[in-house]
Amino acid sequence: MTGIKNLPGHVAIIMDGNGRWAKEKDLPRVEGHRKGSEVVREIVEASRKSGIKVLTLYAFSEENWNRPKAEVGALMSLLAEFLRTELPKMMDEHIRLCAVGRFSQLPDIVREVLLEAIRITKDNKGMTLVIALSYSGRGEIVDAVKEIVELAVEKKVTPEQIDEDMIARHLYTKSLPDPDLLIRTSGEKRISNFLLYQAAYTELFFTKTLWPDFTQEEFLSALQDYSRRERRYGMTSEQVLGED
Ligand code: FPP
Repeated sequence: MTGIKNLPGHVAIIMDGNGRWAKEKDLPRVEGHRKGSEVVREIVEASRKSGIKVLTLYAFSEENWNRPKAEVGALMSLLAEFLRTELPKMMDEHIRLCAVGRFSQLPDIVREVLLEAIRITKDNKGMTLVIALSYSGRGEIVDAVKEIVELAVEKKVTPEQIDEDMIARHLYTKSLPDPDLLIRTSGEKRISNFLLYQAAYTELFFTKTLWPDFTQEEFLSALQDYSRRERRYGMTSEQVLGED
């Protein structure tokens, strides 16, 4: 435990800057992803030790399918390797694995290891690790709308019944809380189609550090930074503090 009061329950991370890290070092981009996956292990450990309940990592967006074939292949291999090597640790540390995204597009081998790891860890009661894979925030909303329209066509839902909660229940994240804190590395200040519906009131933390250089220490300082923020959800500060 960190001793930090007011810890975020759910931290989401856009792990950006692997390519630039490799370029700075005259290495192939894949080396940036390889070092990036080592950092994933570090940050999962730091999250678990800090008492974070849910950690969501943006590992591969739907747009990432447009990258060169060799890079996509390397990323898929790293993901499969990560899932294979981390599974025993996830069991030891009671980590439950979840995933969000359109998995039908994944290579069979990756989908199989992923679904198997989700199945094996499903009753673990420690931290939940969510991997966003072949994920698009707009795509997720489209998929939710399709499900709800199908229910409407079957006369199981009326327009009046459709509200924010119903939409949330049809997102890939249906059983998960909204993220409290979203970290993005590498100096870019964008959401990039990540958790668009869920991040309505999420606190944002941007750092110039490239993902392969991101450390447990900087992760903890992001948690510290979050703990000092006041979340008002559209209310006044006095209302939040119960003075009004
Ligand atoms: C963004 O950096 C990063 C990605 C597209 C992939 C993230 C993948 C990993 C960190 C490793 C594998 C993941 C797991 C969960 C084991 P970029 O390539 O866009 O960097 P750039 O903007 O500097 O080019």
